[in-house]
Amino acid sequence: MTPSFDLLIIGSGPGGYVAAIRAAQLGMSVAVVEREPSLGGTCLNWGCIPSKTLLDSSEHFHLAKTRFAHHGIKLGSIELDLPAMMKRKDEVVSGLTKGVAYLFKKNKITHLSGTAKLTSPTTVEITAPSAAPQTVSAKHILIATGSAPIQIPTLPFDGKHIIHSTHAIALPKVPKHLLVIGAGVIGLELGSVWRRLGAEVTVIEFLDRVAPNMDREMTSLLQRSLEKLGIKFQFGTAAQSAEISGDSVTVSWKKGDEYGTTSADVVLVAVGRKPYTDALGAKEIGLDLDPKGFIKVDAHYRTNLPTISAIGDVIGGLMLAHKAEEEGTAVVELLAGKPGHVNYNAVANVIYTDPELASVGQTEEELKNQNIPYKTGKFPFAANGRAKAMDATEGSVKVLAHAETDRLLGVHILGPRASDMIAEAALALEFHASSEDIARAVHAHPTLSEALKEAALAVEKRAIHA
Ligand code: NAI
Repeated sequence: MTPSFDLLIIGSGPGGYVAAIRAAQLGMSVAVVEREPSLGGTCLNWGCIPSKTLLDSSEHFHLAKTRFAHHGIKLGSIELDLPAMMKRKDEVVSGLTKGVAYLFKKNKITHLSGTAKLTSPTTVEITAPSAAPQTVSAKHILIATGSAPIQIPTLPFDGKHIIHSTHAIALPKVPKHLLVIGAGVIGLELGSVWRRLGAEVTVIEFLDRVAPNMDREMTSLLQRSLEKLGIKFQFGTAAQSAEISGDSVTVSWKKGDEYGTTSADVVLVAVGRKPYTDALGAKEIGLDLDPKGFIKVDAHYRTNLPTISAIGDVIGGLMLAHKAEEEGTAVVELLAGKPGHVNYNAVANVIYTDPELASVGQTEEELKNQNIPYKTGKFPFAANGRAKAMDATEGSVKVLAHAETDRLLGVHILGPRASDMIAEAALALEFHASSEDIARAVHAHPTLSEALKEAALAVEKRAIHA
């Protein structure tokens, strides 16, 4: 007999597994199909978690080498044990992916191993290397298959010399020269890891700046910090092709009318990600995709086929784990007749460099383009007591509020633990707060969060410590 569920989810990344747990909480019978041996998708296995683990480890190494003496801590010679660093990263990943398996058991979610192919709007065929194909049916199917790195056809990945992010979190040794193509979030985070561990790092970027979708003023400050770390940038430059010879890769590039080459032992291509619909059978059953291959959905995440929904990277928009998680919750609540909703204006965006750059709401450029009148309040971490105590004074907070109503429009934080601090700003946006609401809220002293309060006070030119 064909096993049947209320909801069948394809993909166990943050979108899929959160949707599964929420659906189980709402009383649905749920199955999740996953083709990889461990649950958790890109984020847990090859993305957010391993990269943040390596960012933290490499930061400790870098600080031990460059800042500990300043704190009065004398160490002997400091050596890198890369295999131990990688082992710790693998343990963190394994602990968390097993955690998802535990949550599946706890919530009575069926885990089906294999690759799912849609065979009709209510059935999928699951194939796995060591088992016969299995057909499973469901009242509703949710596609949460995520995304994969984009390959530049003239710089094909070989996993050794020309690599993508999955390879870059597991290099067997520190490259002498790492050439990164793309100054987006992956290029900046993984470029930082390997620079801190001793590699020479050069980043080639097509546009004229780092992290092009974030606030320009803040990204130029971030660029300066990364240059201080020793990362070299070459802007307005398009990588065109690569030639591997022995242990060296030579990348040809074009900058305006100028042509040139740069050689490195490893080239990390980080030029974006594409929706993952390979082997899904989407076209065969008539699912509408846009020209870039993203699955088209309406405001309730419904595809053109009424029994199939989709969420996360595979539908486009911000390719972020927390955006997928919220969509997973919303879609399942909508299926259960509840008012599921995602406020895309309050989705924070974080780059986990040092300092971190975190942002929520609109950038100054967006406000200018939309002719929205705004006021700005800024406050530097150099004037924050806790940042001074921590020896982490690079960066500042910028608050943008409507010039007439004072409604909060955007918050941009470059500084220590910006990734955690941005949650207060996201909550303020959710509650349609004014900058005065943040300015009048009591913030514990001494904390980094006081920099946000001070920037909010600065909107009315009444910051206390600047
Ligand atoms: P990205 O879209 O952030 O940046 C790609 C960069 O490559 C762009 O600046 C683009 O102008 C440049 N580029 C494209 N073609 C080029 C060429 N031929 N030569 C030179 N430069 C070129 O993409 P990235 O960094 O690969 O990240 C992919 C996705 O993963 C992003 O959407 C991101 O949101 C997500 N991600 C998020 C993280 C976080 O939230 N901290 C961490 C890692 C990934």
